Amino acid sequence: MSVLERITSEDAIALENKYGAHNYHPLPVVLSRGEGVFVWDVEGKKYYDFLSAYSAVNQGHCHPKIVGEMVNQAQTLTLTSRAFYNDMLGKYEKYATELFGFDKLLPMNTGAEAVETALKVCRKWAYEKKNIPDNKAQIIVCENNFHGRTTTIISFSNDPVARENFGPYTEGFIKIAYDDLDALEATLKNNKNVAGFLVEPIQGEAGVYVPSEGYLSSAKALCKKYNVLFIADEVQTGIARTGKMLAVDHENVKPDILILGKALSGGAYPVSAVLADDSIMNVIGPGNHGSTFGGNPVAAAVAIAALEVVREEELAANANELGQLFREELNKFIPTCDLVSAVRGKGLLNAILINDSEESSTAWDICMALKENGLLAKPTHGNIIRFAPPLVINETQLLDCVSIIINTLTDFNN
Ligand SMILES: Cc1ncc(COP(=O)(O)O)c(C=O)c1O
Repeated sequence: MSVLERITSEDAIALENKYGAHNYHPLPVVLSRGEGVFVWDVEGKKYYDFLSAYSAVNQGHCHPKIVGEMVNQAQTLTLTSRAFYNDMLGKYEKYATELFGFDKLLPMNTGAEAVETALKVCRKWAYEKKNIPDNKAQIIVCENNFHGRTTTIISFSNDPVARENFGPYTEGFIKIAYDDLDALEATLKNNKNVAGFLVEPIQGEAGVYVPSEGYLSSAKALCKKYNVLFIADEVQTGIARTGKMLAVDHENVKPDILILGKALSGGAYPVSAVLADDSIMNVIGPGNHGSTFGGNPVAAAVAIAALEVVREEELAANANELGQLFREELNKFIPTCDLVSAVRGKGLLNAILINDSEESSTAWDICMALKENGLLAKPTHGNIIRFAPPLVINETQLLDCVSIIINTLTDFNN
């Protein structure tokens, strides 16, 4: 089959089902084009994208500046590996470290790889700077976390579907409740071998759980008190999604280690990064860590362009303003509808809670109805639907989407 041959949605789904591993359960829509906040299926139907590839496409689909830089760099030099220097990586590292306020950046590709990198940096720091005895370092993580899919990361997940039958699991993690400062302090007090605290500033995959105000700044203060690294996983919440460049900015927190991915490339290319100051990052030397593709010139060019777009188009301010409007409009509607119990979120990372059990298919069925009405979203967990449009959405489009959501829920309820 030629790659240029047009196929129907039915054919495309059949091909994936037959030849692809069944590691996802996609909504039955086959997309072939995207521009800004819109995507089109192979039959030409247009949809609002209310997932943004799990918050990777914050800058909108096929942003011309990002695609332009990517094509330009792809026609010049794509990959050297880190066996040699390239003329783009240093420029990107300078740009990103100055923007986020860190001394150094370690480039990787996917979010999970960046999380793995942060865990390695944290452990090495613990042995070499905090003098934790060999192989005794512990990292505190939160219940219901989502940090990716590698063997180590799923070792400290408590999602049975992500974990089961993938053992033996990696040791060295202590799980505590999210948004619970007492649990954090007790764990820090009782364990002298704690190296770090890994946390999502908002738990996205778990269902957009926003912690209490002050949680992040108090957690950071506790980490400082006990000489433990505060590691913020901003793979989903970062790059303007929650109404600030980083979600930790809402509480003026500077993490000791910052993890970025997804929208660092505007969804054009896999780009992730770990940022830290010299006192931490300098524990990593040649041979300790790396990736053939990490820091390649295309990734560097794309990431600079993607970050420039966020600043030039003031996407954080737009996410903040339109996120408030979104929740206000839904909060007016929710008391009139038995189907939804609440809307929650920050900036344009929001979710609605469906009044049904986690095991019910109601949220999925609502997403199917939304799809029919021209808006694509997906349940996160059972009865929670996440709404995360590209941040380039404007007010008229957002209100149009609110109407689609309200009309769909109203019809569904009747
Ligand atoms: C908070 C967080 N960390 C890490 C990841 C993993 O990123 P990737 O899928 O690029 O490996 C995700 C993905 O959804 C995420 O939401």
